[in-house]
Order: sequence, then structure tokens, then C-alpha cells
Amino acid sequence: MAGERLAPALSRYLEELVPPRPDELAAMEAYGREARFPIVGPAAGQFCYLVARMIGARRVFEMGSGYGYSTAWFARAVKENGGGRVFHVVWDEDLSQRAQQHLRALGLHDVIEYRVGEAVQTLRETPGEFDLIFNDIDKQAYPSSLPVVAEKLRPGGVLIVDNMLWQGRIFDGNDRSATTEGVRELTRLLVTDPNWKTSLVPIRDGLLIAYRESR
Ligand SMILES: C[S@@+](CC[C@H](N)C(=O)[O-])C[C@H]1O[C@@H](n2cnc3c(N)ncnc32)[C@H](O)[C@@H]1O
Repeated sequence: MAGERLAPALSRYLEELVPPRPDELAAMEAYGREARFPIVGPAAGQFCYLVARMIGARRVFEMGSGYGYSTAWFARAVKENGGGRVFHVVWDEDLSQRAQQHLRALGLHDVIEYRVGEAVQTLRETPGEFDLIFNDIDKQAYPSSLPVVAEKLRPGGVLIVDNMLWQGRIFDGNDRSATTEGVRELTRLLVTDPNWKTSLVPIRDGLLIAYRESR
């Protein structure tokens, strides 16, 4: 997984601290390794679960859900918080189908809403506010997604964004690619806006966590 390139020993240690997972979740991790599919992995998953659990999240919107690995962590928290909705959103129909199989096997299917489509557009069109929004879409689209995220997150809600260290590419001044610039620009937007309180947590590839104070 990406963050291992930055600090392999730290990544291994953080993963060792995550409690044992259900077999199905472990199988999803194994698939991610074999297929080199970029899932958040157990340490970031546990962090997402914990944040959702701590804020008592009942409505979670996930942007760029893949085959449902990160969704599973949010859904576990929402169920333990008393139930609610977790939106699984990805533009690949086959990934949505695969996620449905995994999340049913994990006993989490009943809190999930599946949407196949572009995630920012889907968020814009989904009625209601969210306690927590997780953003893991293509990185060049991070900056333009922020106004929609800000609109749909309840005041006091939490945004988590993955890959905010971008395998260290953000440190390379010669890297002006659209993805790297997207990560840099979203970081700048969040840390300079007084309505957001942010912290960058260096788990795996960097999880940015931002608290939305007001509109
Ligand atoms: C990094 S992977 C997601 C992994 C997932 N969050 C996890 O950790 O288990 C991102 C997925 O979202 C899809 N995706 C990227 N940008 C998207 C967008 N704007 N709308 C919908 N899906 C998107 C990608 O094709 C890919 O399947």
C-alpha cells in the first residue's frame, strides 16, 4: 500500500495495532494486495471507524468507494452508533456489485445505499446532510469537490480525505501533475479557511481530517 513507501516500519507497526478483523474483511485486504487495488488498509480503516464512532455518525457519504473496504469500516461504526445510512458511491458497476457481495457477507448490507455514478454529482443530488463525508476520488478532482462537500456536511460534521501525502509526491517541487496539484490545492483550501479546523494524520498515505465549524 502507498504509505508503506514513506515509512515501512511505522506502517507495519500501526497495522499490527489494529484488532483482528472478520475473515471477509481480511480477504478484502488480501485481494487489495494481490490486485494492487488502492484500498485504505486496516490502520486507516480503524481510524475512520473510530472517528465515525466518536462523533456518533449516523449518516456517512463515501466518495470513491471501490469494492467496499473503507465502506465496511464506516458501516461498522454506524451500526454500533444505532443504525443509519452509509452511501457507497463509485462509477464502476462491477465494483458496486462486488461491494454488495462483501458487505452482505459482513452483515452490513442493511445500512448501505449503493449508487453508481460520479461521486461529486451524486453527493450534490442526494437529499439531506451528512455527519461525515469521506473523499477518496481521483485526486485532480479534490479541489472542485470541496464546495459540494461543504454544502452537504452538517455544521459540526467531519470530512476525511485520503492520500493527502500522495506517496510523498507533494514534496517534489518538480511534480506539477494534475493529481499532485489537486492534493496540494485541497490542502491549501482547507488549512486557510477559518470555517475548517484541519489536521493531517500520517497514517498510510495521509488522512486529512477536517471539522466543519459553520457554513
Ligand atoms: C482509491 S479507490 C477507493 C478505495 C476505497 N475508498 C477503499 O479504501 O476501499 C477509488 C475508487 O473510486 C473510483 N473513483 C475515482 N474517482 C471517482 C469519482 N469522481 N466518482 C466516482 N468514482 C470514482 C475509482 O475508479 C476507484 O474505484
